[in-house]
Amino acid sequence: MRIDIISVVPELLESTLNQSILRRAQEKGLVEIVVHNLHDYAHDKRKTTDDYPFGGEAGMVMKCEPVFELIEKLQSERDYDEVIFTSPDGITYDQHEANRLSTLGNIIILCGHYKGIDFRIREHLITREISIGDYVLTGGELAAAIITDSVVRLIPGAIGDEESALTDCFQDDLLAPPVYTRPADFRGWKVPDVLLSGNFAEIEKWKEAQAYERTKQLRPDLLEKLE
Ligand code: ADE
Repeated sequence: MRIDIISVVPELLESTLNQSILRRAQEKGLVEIVVHNLHDYAHDKRKTTDDYPFGGEAGMVMKCEPVFELIEKLQSERDYDEVIFTSPDGITYDQHEANRLSTLGNIIILCGHYKGIDFRIREHLITREISIGDYVLTGGELAAAIITDSVVRLIPGAIGDEESALTDCFQDDLLAPPVYTRPADFRGWKVPDVLLSGNFAEIEKWKEAQAYERTKQLRPDLLEKLE
């Protein structure tokens, strides 16, 4: 898989994308993550990527030319399955969308900035608009990092124990059950007996019941979706 991320502040992405699981996945050749500085595609002296909006609104708008030039260049080099724009008015990101994206070959993520982007970019280049939640960030870089992180960890081989991505929170629209490690008794707070019993059928049953209970208590909306 290849993920091209387009940003006017690429520094915001670099440290996040080059640590831990994301770094190892790239070193293993499971994913190639390429960050592009949009300013490199602006041809005026000041490397301008934004301009005043027509109609006199406040705030600056991301210009068409650098974005079209870069995305069309990338598309001439390989096929892309999605051209994503990160924006608070996109569809709300969730685990189902992360799963879907992780099965794709190549994607572009354009990070929004300023007041927005010229609408012609959204109409003619973008295939998917994604919000990471109902709040407004200063730019789309953190959203792009979140999307990239959640997608890359799903690529087979990216995390050590492959099964563990499948048992994540939300993977069945349920929260994950509690987990414990040694010592079995810490300050008198004991790990549930069943987990020490060695009876794997009972342990599975306990985990399922806990996942259901925690979801009912903390995120009843997820259960409504299931029903
Ligand atoms: N850019 C600004 N706010 C955002 C959000 N909530 N999700 C995605 N991109 C954004």
